[in-house]
Amino acid sequence: MKILITRKVPGIAVQLLQAHFEVDMHAGPSPMSTGELKRRVKDAAGILTLLTDQIDREIIESAAALRVISNHAVGVDNIDLASATRRGIAVTNTPSVLTDATADFTWALLLAVSRNILAGDRLVRSGTFSGWDPLMLLGADLKGKTLGIVGAGRIGSAVAARSRGWEMDICYFNRSVKRRLEKETGARRVALPELLQSADFVTIHLPLSAETTHLIGAAELALMKPGAYLINTARGAIIDEQALVAALRARRIAGAALDVFEREPDLAAGLTELENVLLAPHIASATHHTRNQMAEIAAQNIIHILQGRPPLSIVNPEVLETDN
Ligand code: GLV
Repeated sequence: MKILITRKVPGIAVQLLQAHFEVDMHAGPSPMSTGELKRRVKDAAGILTLLTDQIDREIIESAAALRVISNHAVGVDNIDLASATRRGIAVTNTPSVLTDATADFTWALLLAVSRNILAGDRLVRSGTFSGWDPLMLLGADLKGKTLGIVGAGRIGSAVAARSRGWEMDICYFNRSVKRRLEKETGARRVALPELLQSADFVTIHLPLSAETTHLIGAAELALMKPGAYLINTARGAIIDEQALVAALRARRIAGAALDVFEREPDLAAGLTELENVLLAPHIASATHHTRNQMAEIAAQNIIHILQGRPPLSIVNPEVLETDN
């Protein structure tokens, strides 16, 4: 059986898959073109995909032998889940192992943007730092402030847990009540408008779906406090990027820190010209340990599915039920 790996991934995945299957890996520095992907997936039983691959209906339908699409990510918004499920193809992902790295990075962004760390670095490098100044690069305090978590799943909850040292008030917006989170952090579940109106820091941790696309648009940004910061380590399209540029330009909010963008790697016009936004290249899960674990799980999911064993994580488990 052939496995297609769509881009160079940590070696552990390649080694694990090569022990069982014939492996075809695209080694180029950028994603394959749709045409090439379609050609190479044709005879594959499994495909290890990245979030930079658009696995749409056409690709899925051109892959007659395909039994598993294993995404090297927790988010699967790059895959047409309905088409895969219709054809009985398992779609798997890599949750949990990236929770801590992503929550840590969320805090890195929050602290960096609210304490002007990058502006400080630029100032020192520019040679214009002329010594300590009581009014230079003043930022925001954290202690006692309100942290608003939009999406309190694994990552959102881990971000909330890390706020303890700063004695922050936590509110969260989530479909279901999170009893453990409430017990451990004192978090309150609120409606999104209330969260936006009361939080000093708003951080996004939802999956991207039709429901969450542009969940934060001009109207929502207008509800935020003028001194508030917006952090996004989830998916860019949850925020209307053009509306965010307008809000930041008008100083409607204090700042934003983004690890994800609406049309990666392209950015909304004007975003890079703003001083009050911190831009990171989608690296929230990028630690050696986490990326190795993601690669290992992605490979194991393929091996398990093709050997008829339950995978470590699956997004459309109904596909396995119909197999039995
Ligand atoms: C990264 O963005 C992921 O979904 O794993």
